[in-house]
Amino acid sequence: MQKPAILGGPRAFANPLPFSNPGFAPCPALLEKMKGIMESGILSKGPYVEEFESRCTQFLDVRHAIAVSSCLSGLCLSLQALDLSGEVIVPAFTFPAAPGSIVQCGLTPAFADCHPHTFNIDPHHAERLVTPKTSAIMAVSNYGLPPDIQLLEEISERHSLKLISDSAQAFGATYGRKMVGGFGSMEVFSLSQSKILTTGEGGLVTTNDNALAEKIRQGRNYGKSESGEFLFAGLSARLSELHALMGLELLASVPDFLQKRRALANLYKERLKAVEGVRFQTAGEGMESSENYFPIFIDGKKFGLHRDVVWQALAKENIETRKLFSPPAYQHPGFAKFKREDLPATEKASEECLALPLYPRLEHEEVDKVCDTMERIYRWRDEFRAPPKLF
Ligand SMILES: Cc1ncc(COP(=O)(O)O)c(C=O)c1O
Repeated sequence: MQKPAILGGPRAFANPLPFSNPGFAPCPALLEKMKGIMESGILSKGPYVEEFESRCTQFLDVRHAIAVSSCLSGLCLSLQALDLSGEVIVPAFTFPAAPGSIVQCGLTPAFADCHPHTFNIDPHHAERLVTPKTSAIMAVSNYGLPPDIQLLEEISERHSLKLISDSAQAFGATYGRKMVGGFGSMEVFSLSQSKILTTGEGGLVTTNDNALAEKIRQGRNYGKSESGEFLFAGLSARLSELHALMGLELLASVPDFLQKRRALANLYKERLKAVEGVRFQTAGEGMESSENYFPIFIDGKKFGLHRDVVWQALAKENIETRKLFSPPAYQHPGFAKFKREDLPATEKASEECLALPLYPRLEHEEVDKVCDTMERIYRWRDEFRAPPKLF
C-alpha cells in the first residue's frame, strides 16, 4: 500500500476534490426564464416567489412556506414572531448561526450538550437547563439528521416552552416517516449553496400556524402590513424572483439529490466501518437524514492520529474536508460569555468531527478513493509519529 502524500507518496487526486458542489447542469431553459424576469421588471415580490413557496408547501406537506433571504434571517424573524424573552436553549455543538440568531434578537443562548451518538441536542441535558427565564428550545438537525423531536416536544410542553427547529441542513430529512418542516412552532431551512436545495443564497420558514406565518411575511418586509402600516420593526429579508426561480427549477430534482446523497453516504459507511476509531452519526428509530454533510468522528487514540492530522493528510491528497462543527460555538469569541456548564460530549465531538465531501455529483469512484486514502493514512499512521529528521 502506497504511502500517503503527506509522507511523500502520490496524491490521491490530481485536482482538488471539493467539499461541496451545487453542480448546476447547463440549463438553457432556466437562462431563458431568467432573461424573462430581467425584462419583466419584476425582480421581487412576484409570481416566482409565490410559486416557489406554494411548491415547497406541497413538497414538505406543511401549511405555510415563506421564502426569506437566508436561514439566519428566517431564524431571527421566527424568534421575533414568537415574542420570546430571556433564555433560549440551543445546542453547543452546531453551526454558530443558530445561537447567533438568539443573540441577534436580544435573547440569551443557554448551551446544551449533544447526544454522543446522534450528535444532536441531548434533550435530557436541555431539560436540566430550563430556568424560570427560559422561553424556548431551538433544536438543530446537525448534518441533516433530525433531533429527537418527540422528546423535545414533550419537554417543551411540560415547561410551556416554544420549540423552534433550525433545519438549515435538513431539507428532505424525515422523522417518523414524515418530512421535517411541520414540527414545533416553525422550522427554518437554509437555501445557501452547500444545501440540499439551493437558491444561491436564501432561506425558508415553514409552519402550520396561520398567525405566525402572517408575522413572518410581515417581518421579512420591514414589519409592514398589507395596508401599509409598519406594525413592528422587521427586517428587509425577502427572496428575489431570480433566486426563487433557481429554487423552483431545482426542487423537482430534490428526490433524486436525496437518493444520490443517501447512496453515497451508505457507500462511505460500508467502506469505513472497519477502520478502527472511525464512528458515524447514528439515526434514531424512524429518522432519515438528508445527508447534507457526511461527518466521521475520529477517536485519536484508537485511530492512532488526531483528527487534525487526518485533516491535513487528506488536504495533502487534494481532498477538501471540513471540521464541522469545531470549535464549538462557545469557544468562539462572540459566544464565550454564554457558557454555563461543562459540555463533555460537545468537547469530544468537536475534537473528533470531520465532514467528508458529499454532493449528488460526487462519483462512487471518488468516494472509493477517499476511503482508500483514509485506509492508507491509517495503515501508515506510525510514520506520522516518527521523530522529525534533523539532518
Ligand atoms: C445549522 C445552521 N443554521 C444556520 C445556518 C445559516 O444559514 P444561512 O447561511 O442560510 O443563513 C447554517 C448554515 O450553514 C447552518 O448550518
